Amino acid sequence: MAISETIWELEPHTRAKHIILRKYLDAWLPKQTKWNDRVIICDGFAGPGVYKNGEDGSPIIALKAFLEHSHKEHISAEIIYLFIELESDRFECLEQVLARFSERLPDNVKIRKYNDDYDSALSGILDHMDDSSQSIAPTFAFIDPFGIKGVSLNTIKRLMAHKGCEVFVNFMTTSLQRFLATKEFESHSDAFFGCSDWRDALPLSGEARENALRMLYQRRLVDKDGVAAKYVRFFTMKNEKNTTIYDLFFATNHEKGIDAMKAAMWNVDPSGDFSFSDATDPNQEVLFQPEPDWQQLIDILAKEYRGQTVPWLVVAEKIRNSPFRILKNPIKDAACSDNPVLQIVNPVGTRRKTIKDGVTQIRFLT
Ligand SMILES: C[S@@+](CC[C@H](N)C(=O)[O-])C[C@H]1O[C@@H](n2cnc3c(N)ncnc32)[C@H](O)[C@@H]1O
Repeated sequence: MAISETIWELEPHTRAKHIILRKYLDAWLPKQTKWNDRVIICDGFAGPGVYKNGEDGSPIIALKAFLEHSHKEHISAEIIYLFIELESDRFECLEQVLARFSERLPDNVKIRKYNDDYDSALSGILDHMDDSSQSIAPTFAFIDPFGIKGVSLNTIKRLMAHKGCEVFVNFMTTSLQRFLATKEFESHSDAFFGCSDWRDALPLSGEARENALRMLYQRRLVDKDGVAAKYVRFFTMKNEKNTTIYDLFFATNHEKGIDAMKAAMWNVDPSGDFSFSDATDPNQEVLFQPEPDWQQLIDILAKEYRGQTVPWLVVAEKIRNSPFRILKNPIKDAACSDNPVLQIVNPVGTRRKTIKDGVTQIRFLT
């Protein structure tokens, strides 16, 4: 996607991305500000802050996550917003939009604006931290470029090496598809993947190439020689013709982070115009829809643990690493079904259908 105007029209799939961003920050803010004196929200490709028909851009969505938060009065930690935008016209527009909020922000909320390249600005901050042997405050970084140019894995790796930092990356599948084979794109791809393995996808085409590239990016975020993030999932947005528009990658080292992101994803109500799925495991693609297909989850668990009795917390971690949310009711329902594949096992004297952390075991039948 190459857009030349300062502001452009909001597309339905961008709106979906914004809903996820807001839902996630709604959950992130009270948790992170409870445990930390300072937190950072970095919008690395901030844009002009507004769309053609007046809709909010991501910086305003992030600001409103605080301003409209029901726990706002209880948040005393310092919240620093970093807004980075390279193009001067969009940066100026963003400054004007942000000016409307300046009087409404309490002293603990600070905005730092950079009319700069995302990678240079963030690297500069990280260099400063390294030079002064400091750690950056827990940071949520939203990385939302038009293409992949200027997004290096190394900077993500450096950020994520700091405690409590996580990234939400818009992986521009269409742009990658279009430009991957061009000579001038090589150095951008090398930096984006932090390796040269993307060249293995060159002989492939269509969906096979797309899959190879997203699986490579996922590995680079997980692998020890890449970012080494504990939890990585990606979410694929497709249009009504079943063509991928973008993938959203989320990487965190915190279980609460991945739980909250999945909750945000399950909250998006796809319109007829697009579909949204978790395809992190190619054999286990799960479509986000108003009512999750819980049978799919039970099948995943039964396949893994058939014939075994395992602590509930082990099962919960397995669910955490699946597209589904950790909810106890689907497990209880499965245990009560006419043809159960699992049973809930509790010590004598505990209510039979209760699922209690550290107490309950789940017996998977053969
Ligand atoms: C997809 S738009 C961002 C939209 C915005 N995040 C939102 O959701 O409202 C990408 C923005 O990144 C800006 N940009 C492009 N290259 C950049 C770079 N290297 N560093 C920072 N910003 C850049 C573009 O000018 C554009 O405004």
